[in-house]
This record gives sequence, structure tokens and C-alpha cells, in this order.
Amino acid sequence: MGRFYVTTPIYYVNDVPHLGTAYTTIVADALRRFHLLQGDETFMLTGTDEHGLKIERQAKEQHLDPKAFTDKISARFMEAWPKLDIFPDRFIRTTDADHEAFVAELWKKIEANGDLYEGEYEGWYCVGCESLKTDKELEPGNLCPLHKTPVERVKEKSYFFRLEKWQKPLLDFYGRHPDFIRPESRRNEVLSFVESGLKDLSVSRTSFTWGIPVPGNPKHVMYVWFDALANYLTALNHGSLSRFWAPSGKVVHLVGKDILRFHAVFWPAFLLSAGYTEEQIPQVVFAHGFLTIDGQKMGKALRNAVDPLKIAHELGADVLRYHLLRAIAFGQDGDFDHAALIERYNADLGKNLGNLLSRVLGLCTKLANGKVPVFGERTALEDELFSRVKADLAMVRSAWESIEPHRALETTFAISSAANTYVDRAAPWAAAKTDPARAHTILAALLEVLAALSVAIWPAMPNKSNTMRAQLGLPPVEPRVGEDAFPTELGSLLKPGAPLAPAGPLFQTFDKNGTKAMVDKLVPRVEIPKTADNKTTESTDIEVSTTIAYDDFAKIDLRVGLVKSAERVPKKDKLLRLTMDLGEPSPRTLVAGLALSFQPAELVGRKVLVVANLAPRDFGSADFGSGKEKLVSHGMLLASGPSEDLRLATIDGDAAPGAKLK
Ligand code: MSP
Repeated sequence: MGRFYVTTPIYYVNDVPHLGTAYTTIVADALRRFHLLQGDETFMLTGTDEHGLKIERQAKEQHLDPKAFTDKISARFMEAWPKLDIFPDRFIRTTDADHEAFVAELWKKIEANGDLYEGEYEGWYCVGCESLKTDKELEPGNLCPLHKTPVERVKEKSYFFRLEKWQKPLLDFYGRHPDFIRPESRRNEVLSFVESGLKDLSVSRTSFTWGIPVPGNPKHVMYVWFDALANYLTALNHGSLSRFWAPSGKVVHLVGKDILRFHAVFWPAFLLSAGYTEEQIPQVVFAHGFLTIDGQKMGKALRNAVDPLKIAHELGADVLRYHLLRAIAFGQDGDFDHAALIERYNADLGKNLGNLLSRVLGLCTKLANGKVPVFGERTALEDELFSRVKADLAMVRSAWESIEPHRALETTFAISSAANTYVDRAAPWAAAKTDPARAHTILAALLEVLAALSVAIWPAMPNKSNTMRAQLGLPPVEPRVGEDAFPTELGSLLKPGAPLAPAGPLFQTFDKNGTKAMVDKLVPRVEIPKTADNKTTESTDIEVSTTIAYDDFAKIDLRVGLVKSAERVPKKDKLLRLTMDLGEPSPRTLVAGLALSFQPAELVGRKVLVVANLAPRDFGSADFGSGKEKLVSHGMLLASGPSEDLRLATIDGDAAPGAKLK
């Protein structure tokens, strides 16, 4: 018996659960279920990351107190996971009192070891990543390469963590623990990053307050990543739960590739600095890839998120779980496609496994009175089947053990394919005519394989496992600590004479029309592009609009505009007043509904697309400090998205202000 502690990243509450975040959480749950099957004692942790500038800003935009805001979104995560049959042992929130207390203790330990000092930092900060960026990392236009949004210049007093000091110990540690960072390609990336030199890390902020106060200096709040990483220890900082931590437990952190550096560099450095030994550093940080839609990372930033709960509602959580675990090689990016989901559903679940079950149970009803038949003399066919299945089961086990769910399921379903081939070759319906005992042996062999499969699919599809087992006359899988229930041998999983209980198909397949109807139901409704001051924010299906003649289009004077200045409009929450260079002798004033999505300073210097010949629009008046001024927009800026998350239409390359679009 072992101990297995698996964690997901704690999710930022600026977004609700989507398929990308569901993915990691499903993998964590499946791994944990596999370990339960083996008789291990397990602990699974997930939760929400609630502090930091990003969250503070978003709460402000929604006119909510940060805690009220985080309560609201955190609940969405907490409620989502059980709907996907995920039951973590703890759902942690970084606003939990035990966490805040634990982080303060961790800080004090690191401080006492001389690894914190006060200083000032200046640099580019991506609020989306909650991380500083070097000049080298930025994309043209000062954009964060991950979020494609402008970074902000920050300069403030800060505590620094002596990360540089830990460079050598980290490299030694990686050398001694080659499995710490997986997969291999990611390990190499981290190694070269650390080898190229580490700089001390800013670990506190003074320009906002939504964070855990620095012990002894409450003007500072802790850097959100210092706070967040500690969650993995907070959860076990309760009595005997510490037994799940390394080395007495196997600790596996599942993370996306974008946050590997925090887990593989900063986290072990914090731990070593706080006095943890090398053996007390987690055994594995596994970085998986991104789920993409048409090659683009899925998520809020690109507004292409797929709702996992909708898929689970329509097809069942098992189907979604299976698809994500099987279709994407864990560690690599995977493009998600609804039609491919249904295709795999039909092929693997319906035609392969589902068919095998109903075929075998149908034959048992016909040829064996609906009972488990007696296993008679084995022929070469059964020997071949059983030795193949035995070898495959060993591979399934080792694939789960080595965190390769896609391989584990591929092999699980290869077992089902082998059994389908065996039915055709052994032809029990023909044997029944001349040798009923032989037909019974064939069916008994098939039932054994099905019984093994009903357990092997449990980590991925706990519900279907139960349904399958009920049809086989078996109780649901109920793992017990210390008992290895993962099947290794065939031959005695079922009792001869026990009643079988065939029911409807395990998976109802979709024909061509059914597939189309289901895909239509599942595909998210897409927003039609709209302008920054367009009030509509409702989602709607894409509509094919009526065409217009080129001459009509040519009437629109679309131009590149350079934002010279931007300011909020007092008492109008959504509006910004912009001065724009449109290549004319003097700048124009534009008023746009951008204030919920952008800080005025972020816009200055950006080149955007403007409808230059729109009739002036009157927004009333506002007092900017020197009496009432008329608020008239002389043109319209193009953008897309809801008013709290707008994306600006911009131009590629180096176009001059005033350049026309055609
Ligand atoms: N709060 C931090 C993590 C702190 S852990 C101590 C964070 N949160 S996040 O919500 O932005 O992202 C959480 C995880 O979701 C990351 O591992 C990220 O890679 C993952 N994903 C977000 N979008 C994803 C996809 N489209 N596909 C797969 N995973 C994705 O970072």
C-alpha cells in the first residue's frame, strides 16, 4: 500500500470552469481513482486562487468587494466538479483562514533563514499571468506572449526572495531527481532556464491591498504566486494528513505548461529555503499541454471556452472524461472538436465496448439461460486471449502509474477489440449447435474479460463501470485501502451460475443525423462581432447577414487611429474619452465604451481601427474638473466581446495613423 497525493492548480476566479480547467481536474480524479483501485491511500486537492491584482481589478469592475466576488466565482468551481464525478478531499480557497495563517508561517521561516530582503523593483508586469516579464519575452507592442494583452510598467517597493542563491541547489536536485519534471521535453526547458541564471524574485506588492499581509509589514501584501503555491502544504497541515507529503506520500502536481516554471523552480526553492529537505520536495510536477480550439488556447481571453458541464449534461460525465483522457496525449496540446468527440464516442464506447457487452450478454441469454456459464476446457483460442489480456492489463496498470492516461485507455480498449475479434473467431453460436459446453466456455471467457474491463474503466468512467457491472451481476467497484483490486488474472472474476442482468445498450450510438443534431446542440453559441459602444452583450448564433454591394462598403471610411490620450469619464462607468490621431492636422475626440475592459493608460500608444465617417454621436456632458463639457464622439472604434472583456480591432505591422482600410 502506498500514499498518493494529487493536486490540480488552484484556479483563478477571474474565469468560470471551462474545458481546459476541467481537463486537469479530470486527470487528477482519474489518477486518484486508479491509485484507490490499487489499494493506495489517496488525497486529492483542488481549489481557487483568489488574491492578486487581477482579481482585485475584476471585483472592482463588477462593483463588488473582492471577497464577495471570489465567493461567487469560487462556488462555481466547487459546484462544477461533482457534476463531473470529481470529489476532491479538500477544496481549498486561498482566502481560507488556515491557508492565510500557514502562508504567514512559511514566510517567517524563509525570512528567518535570511532569504528575504527589502528593495524596489521596476519592470513589465502581465496582470493575466500575475508575473513580471523581461523585455526579451514581450511581443511587439509590449504584449504578453500568452495573453496577447499589453503589459504594465510597474515600479514599487518590494520584498525579494534570494532565488539566485538556490540556482545551484536546484540544478543538483534536478540532477538527482530526473523524474521531478515531466515530460522530458519540459524538463529540458526548465533546466536551460535555470542554467541561464536566476534573478532574485519580487515576492510582495505595495500598490494594491488584495492579498495576504506580509508578517510584520502590512503595507506589503504577498505576491500572489508565493501565496498560491503554499496551498499544497496548507491542505495537509492538519494532524496526520501530513503523511501524504513527501517522502511518505507520493506527491504529484498536475499543472499546465504555462505555469511549470512557478512549480518547478520557485516552489522547490521556497521549500528548500523554508528548511524542507530534498526528500520533502514533491516527487513529480507534470506539465500538460493546452486544449485548443482551431489551434488557439481555449479560455476566457479568446472567448472560445467550451462548457464541460453542458457536454456532461448531454452525454454524461463519463463520456467527457473518457474523451479528454483518451484523445489527448497527456503532456501535449490537443485540439478539441465536438464532432471528433461524437465520432470517438460512437467508435470506442458504442461500437467497441458497448457492443461487446450487449453481444455477450445477448448470447448468454440465448445459450446459457442468462446465467454465468461454467468455464470448461480451455483451447488455444482462450489461452491466446487470456495471455494477451493479462499482458495488456499489466500495460494499463503501468500506464496509469506513469501518468499516461491516454495510453492506459488505448490499451484498455485494445482489450475490448481483442475480445470482439475472439467472439467472431470462436463463434459460440455455431459451437452451441454441436457442443454446448464449448459455447459455455467461450461465453465464460468473454464474461471474464468484461469483468476485468469493468474495473479497468473505473478510473475514467466510474458510472459506466457500475452500469456494466450491474449487467454482469457484479457489485459496484468499492476500493479498499490495502486491497489491490486492479485485475491481473482472468478465470475467477465471476461465479458460474450467478444471474446476469442485461439491460439497454451501455452507450447509445448516434447515426449521421443524430451526430449532427448533437453537435449542433453542443457547439457553443458564438458572439457576433460588435462595436465598442454597441449596447448588445447577449450571445447569439452567427447569422449570415444579407450581402451589400462593394460601393456600399466603400462608403465606410475605415482608418488606423493612434490613441494619444485616454481618460475615464466621471460618473459614466463604461466610457473613456480618447484623443486620436487619424492622420489629420489636429486630433479627434472619440468616446467609447471601453472603461470596463481597459485602464486608460493601457490604451495610449495603441493603433486601433476606427470608423472615421460615422455621424458624430452625442453622449451628453460630463465634468472633467473644470465645469461641464459636451461629450461628443467623432468616430467609432472597433472592438469585439462583452463590455467587461472587450478585444480591440488592431492592425498588423506598421501602419501610419490615418491609413485607410480597404
Ligand atoms: N492560479 C494559477 C495557478 C496557481 S497553482 C498554485 C493559475 N490559474 S489559471 O486559472 O489561470 O490556470 C489554471 C490552470 O488551468 C493552468 O494549469 C492552466 O494551464 C490551465 N488551463 C487554462 N486554460 C487551459 C487550456 N485551454 N487547456 C488546458 N489547460 C488550461 O494559473
